[in-house]
Amino acid sequence: MIEVHANGCQFADVDALRRIVLARRSVRRFLSNPIPEGILENVLAITQRAPTGYNLQGWIAIIVTDSEVKSKLRKAAFNQRQVEDAPAVVVFATDTHVARNFESTAAHALDLGHWSESYVKYLRRIVNAVFGREFFGIGNFIRWAGTRSLSFFRPMPMVPFGDAGFAGYGWKQSSLAAQTFMLAASAHGLDTCPMEGIDERWVRKAVGLPGNYTIPMIIPIGFAPEPAKLSPRFPPEKIFHRDCYGTVFNGIGSLIV
Ligand SMILES: Cc1cc2nc3c(=O)[nH]c(=O)nc-3n(C[C@H](O)[C@H](O)[C@H](O)COP(=O)(O)O)c2cc1C
Repeated sequence: MIEVHANGCQFADVDALRRIVLARRSVRRFLSNPIPEGILENVLAITQRAPTGYNLQGWIAIIVTDSEVKSKLRKAAFNQRQVEDAPAVVVFATDTHVARNFESTAAHALDLGHWSESYVKYLRRIVNAVFGREFFGIGNFIRWAGTRSLSFFRPMPMVPFGDAGFAGYGWKQSSLAAQTFMLAASAHGLDTCPMEGIDERWVRKAVGLPGNYTIPMIIPIGFAPEPAKLSPRFPPEKIFHRDCYGTVFNGIGSLIV
């Protein structure tokens, strides 16, 4: 069923989305069956539509099918067996040098007429001010300290600071890609398991990632021997607030009956 919204855009099938979301469950056992030709490629093509801040697209994904590399990943994941059992494991990572992609993003968007010259100029100023790490990070420190102090008086951009700050920014970007990936997998009848139970340093070494990449999670993908049980969720009243913190947003039904 396709619904057409008043502004003319077509909504995708809501029932299909609900089924796909409900079918996504973390699985810890995988069959050794390979993923049929072309399916993983479709899932990855959908994954690439995930949004990123300023459209910088700083995340990458490494698709691991080699058994030796999978075995190293299993070790990096504290011996969690799903890493080695699954036919493929996807390592999501983001470049912590966030501004690096700006010029190529801008050139591409200008080429396609998606951004104007003046918008690119404006964005270049912001991106360099927020993410610049020149002079061994001294500029970053000054801008971080300055913006955090000024923000007591007026809203200021959130400047990531230090390794943890840039990793957090990067994880935000690649986590959206990871969720898109899991839903795309689910839509293709594939099972996944998001995993943060890893030592990032060991994962990086296993797949040859340079140190400027940060890894929020790895995701084994394949077929589970049987459907996993649906995990519980809090009642919606605990999660959703109306207007301000503490006022319950009522009337949300649970998908799980
Ligand atoms: C960021 C993140 C990290 C996770 N890390 C692991 C992990 O290392 N190992 C694991 O078995 N499950 C892991 N999980 C799966 C969660 O336990 C699971 O998502 C949660 O229990 C809800 O179940 P569901 O995914 O089936 O809805 C992780 C989930 C998320 C979102």
